[in-house]
Amino acid sequence: MYNDFEELKSGCLNCGKCALAEMRTNVVFGVGNENAEVMFVGEGPGENEDLRGEPFVGRGGQLLDKMLRAVHLDRTKNIYITNIVKCRPPGNRDPKPDEIADCFPYLDKQIELIRPRIIVCLGRHAAQKLIGEDFKITREHGKWYKYNNALIMGMFHPAFILRNQGQKAPAFADFLALRDKIKELGLGTYRDAPEEEAFVV
Ligand code: URA
Repeated sequence: MYNDFEELKSGCLNCGKCALAEMRTNVVFGVGNENAEVMFVGEGPGENEDLRGEPFVGRGGQLLDKMLRAVHLDRTKNIYITNIVKCRPPGNRDPKPDEIADCFPYLDKQIELIRPRIIVCLGRHAAQKLIGEDFKITREHGKWYKYNNALIMGMFHPAFILRNQGQKAPAFADFLALRDKIKELGLGTYRDAPEEEAFVV
């Protein structure tokens, strides 16, 4: 149905499949490099994201950007970030199963077109949709699984880390595991990073 990213994006921006469409300010399609080898998938837009039309731009997003920078990942350069649902669930409630089902074809096609080698699920909702419905984030974060041709991992959601500062260290350990996997697979993700700067945490 959609032949390229632009067609997909324009279809998504005009979507009216579920009730979330009536309440949104902006569709939050995704941001980053459309040829990224590493893709991050969150849950759904919050208030700030709905207003800006970009994922993870609130306090959680700032923390995410900081942890990404520490392992030389950057939403303007070498990763792609999106969500399971592209419109804000009101009052920041969890997306409903039928909303996730209506929206999933957009994410599915984003993954098909981007063809990431690594997918990172930010939080339980993304992990339960993409890894398995019984996924337990506290027990299984940081572990690698397969998603078609990609490797996939669940990490703590940045909003959870903000609420549970004691989880910062294990959360950051997952970013280091991601960095190690990028190196192990020999991905080009860090190709442009200056030698002396690369992998400094
Ligand atoms: N939380 C998410 O899961 N995604 C966003 O884009 C913002 C907050």
